[in-house]
Amino acid sequence: MTSRCRVALAGFGTVGRSVARSLQERDDVELVAILNREVERKRVEWIDRRTTWTESFDDLLRCRPDVFVELIGGRAPAADWIRRALEAGIPVVTANKQVIAHDGASLLGLAAARGTVLRFEGAVAGGVPVIRAIESGLAGDALTLVAGILNGTCNYILTRMERDAAPFDEALREAQALGFAEADASQDIDGLDAQAKLAVLVMVAFGLQVSPAALAVRSIATVGPVDFVYAKRLGCTIRQIAWAERIGSGVRAAVGPALVALDSPFAGVGGSGNLVAVHGRSGGTTTFGGRGAGGDPTAVAVVSDVLAIARGTGSVPAVQVRCASIVSADAATPCYVRFTVADRPGIIAALAAVFARHDVNIDAVLQEPGYPPHERPFIVSLDAAPWPVVETALGEIERMEFHVQPPLALPVLTGVEDRPVATF
Ligand code: HSE
Repeated sequence: MTSRCRVALAGFGTVGRSVARSLQERDDVELVAILNREVERKRVEWIDRRTTWTESFDDLLRCRPDVFVELIGGRAPAADWIRRALEAGIPVVTANKQVIAHDGASLLGLAAARGTVLRFEGAVAGGVPVIRAIESGLAGDALTLVAGILNGTCNYILTRMERDAAPFDEALREAQALGFAEADASQDIDGLDAQAKLAVLVMVAFGLQVSPAALAVRSIATVGPVDFVYAKRLGCTIRQIAWAERIGSGVRAAVGPALVALDSPFAGVGGSGNLVAVHGRSGGTTTFGGRGAGGDPTAVAVVSDVLAIARGTGSVPAVQVRCASIVSADAATPCYVRFTVADRPGIIAALAAVFARHDVNIDAVLQEPGYPPHERPFIVSLDAAPWPVVETALGEIERMEFHVQPPLALPVLTGVEDRPVATF
């Protein structure tokens, strides 16, 4: 395209506004249309007077854009609009992880069939250009592992707890005020946002399509400030980690809070930061980090995709995507278990007997002094054991009468830096 690239934007929320602002500052791009619900309420005076404001996708198409940017979020009607734009041969840029996670393979196929492109850098890790790096920069390697901090809201909450012992609700409210959190913050906290992003990474890195719902998720809501005290005693801290390992034509994967070593790259990620580590058979581990959430960082990814299309560099080598033959979360992993009990003699003996019966070895038992006997936390760290076995043992222990809170079990991530397989 030699003239100005005509962009139509659907979605004028946090990211949409940042994208519009950025596009308006450029002289190689023209923002021809903005679509949003209740558009009169959304209209602002800093947008060029010639830009069409509309609530109708048909109106938007009538503006004959060179690129359609979808930032409304959610699957419907976003997937349908993207499909219609691609059908019409219009290149599409989206930051919609749910659409790409669920429909990415078929939409990419449609784009290829229509001789156009679908770009989605903003769907994963905000402003960190990990999609393009995997697709292009690492195309020469066979990737076997992806592990990352993919949700800025969870990382913000966990690092506020770690550094300031902040209560969960207060840290969440701050993340919401800063514009990181989803409209429904349980998407962040319960791992569904990272689950969709992980499905996108699995598609891009392994060429395997997985249903996001098949990727196991665990919430960070049960993690408390006391867990950071005990994690530190073990030389670790806690982060929400999304990981996937390629096993032949299948995938082993999960999302949830995990202990990571204090000297690991994950432990160094603070606030809304994201970090993605990929491991390849030839190139070893490569990490990508930066600001993973918020309007401006995500807008960088979106606008960069628009510019790549405008400059004719938007297409990437087509990756053959096929369905993963199997998706499982079973891995042998060291484990941290926090118990909160109404104290009495014999509790440790009782649970040690259950672990022994299941052939699970206790590495350490730690109990900080100073807690009241009616609500006393202590932790047990376990040597590597298959998750299903640990869960069965914990199911038996949970039925015992001394718990004040259900036990919290977290895997211990022992490293992706120096080994081909994350032993979760
Ligand atoms: N809510 C997401 C996060 C940002 O906290 O990372 C958008 O993907």
